[in-house]
Amino acid sequence: MLITGASVGVGLQIATLLRPTLLARDRCLVLTARPSSLARFADAGFFDDDRVMVRPLDVTDRIAQEALLAEISQRWGGVDVLINNAGVSYRSVVEHVTEAERLEQMDVNFRSAMALTVACLPHMRARRSGRILAVSSVGGMMAMPTMAVYSASKFALEGAYEALYYEVRPWNIHVTLVQPGFINSDGFEKVRFTAQARTALDDGNDPYHAHYRHMQDFVARLMRWFGQSPRHVAKQVVRAIDRRRPPLRMAGTCDAWAFSFARRFLPRWLYHAALYRGLPHVRQWGASSALQAPANVPQGDANGPAVDETVEARPGVGVPTR
Ligand SMILES: NC(=O)c1ccc[n+]([C@@H]2O[C@H](COP(=O)([O-])OP(=O)(O)OC[C@H]3O[C@@H](n4cnc5c(N)ncnc54)[C@H](OP(=O)(O)O)[C@@H]3O)[C@@H](O)[C@H]2O)c1
Repeated sequence: MLITGASVGVGLQIATLLRPTLLARDRCLVLTARPSSLARFADAGFFDDDRVMVRPLDVTDRIAQEALLAEISQRWGGVDVLINNAGVSYRSVVEHVTEAERLEQMDVNFRSAMALTVACLPHMRARRSGRILAVSSVGGMMAMPTMAVYSASKFALEGAYEALYYEVRPWNIHVTLVQPGFINSDGFEKVRFTAQARTALDDGNDPYHAHYRHMQDFVARLMRWFGQSPRHVAKQVVRAIDRRRPPLRMAGTCDAWAFSFARRFLPRWLYHAALYRGLPHVRQWGASSALQAPANVPQGDANGPAVDETVEARPGVGVPTR
C-alpha cells in the first residue's frame, strides 16, 4: 500500500490505522512525504522495517516517482493499493490566480495523482486486482467562492477517476474517491492565498475584499462547527480498502454526505440559489467594486444582481438545466 503526503493530517491517520493490521492483512506500507517533511515519520513512530518503507516523495517530481516505484517493484513486486492523499489548497477568486499558481494547484492535486495512478496500473492489471483511492473533497462535487482553482483540481480528479472506475473494472481494480468536507485540522489553515488574494484580503478597498474576509471566517466557523477530524476521513479510507466492492464515491465526513444529498436531490436552480443566499454577508460583496468598475459596465443594485441571473435560470425559463 502506497500513501502520498502521509506525514501529517489524513495521510498520517490512514497509516496509523493500517499499521496494527499489516501482518493480519499480509500487507506492506510505503509511506511517503516531501523530503522536508520526512522527519515527522520518526516523531510519529514510523521507521523502516520489514513491513514499512518510509521514503521521500514530492509527488510533482516524476523522476522521484519512477525511482520509488522501481524500488517497490524490486522489493515487493509492485503497488496493489494506491492512496493518493497529498494535496494543497489555493484560496483565491478566479480573477486573482496567475497561470503559474493554477498550474501548481493542478500539478499537485491532479496531474501528479494521475501520473502515479498510470504508473501503478500495469502491475495491478497483471495480477488482475488492485485498489486505487484518492482523498478528494466536497470541493470536487461543488464549488464555493474563493476556492475555484482548488475545486477545479478536485473536479478534474473526480472526472478522470470516474472514467477510470469503468475502464479498469474488468481487471478487478476498484477505484474510490473519498470526499471529506470541512475537517477540523490545521490542513485548512495551510491554504495558500495567491499573491493577489493576499493583497485583496489586506486591502479594504479591493473589489473582492469582502469575499475573502467573510469566506475566511465562514470556513473557520464551519470547520469548528462540524468538528470532523482527519481520523474520521482516514476511517472511511480504510473502510473503502476493506470493502469487497467499494463504491466510486464515499463521503469522508457527515457534512460531505449532506452536501452530496442536497446536490443530488434539490432542483439545480434551488440548490444554487440557496447556496448563494447562504454565503456570509453576501449583500456586502462587491460594494467597493462599484467605485472601480468602468462607467459602461451595468451595475447590480446594492444587494448585487438577482441570483437567477448570476447562476442559471429556472427550468423552462430559457437556459437549459444540466
Ligand atoms: N483539511 C481539509 O479540510 C480537507 C478537506 C477536504 C479535502 N481535503 C484533502 O485531504 C487530503 C489531505 O489533506 P489534509 O487535511 O490531511 O491536509 P494536510 O495536513 O495539509 O496534508 C496534506 C499533505 O499533502 C502533502 N503535500 C503537499 N504537497 C505535496 C507534494 N508536492 N508532494 C508530496 N506531498 C505533498 C503535505 O506535505 P507537507 O506536510 O510537506 O506540506 C501533507 O502531508 C488533501 O488531498 C486535501 O485536499 C482536506
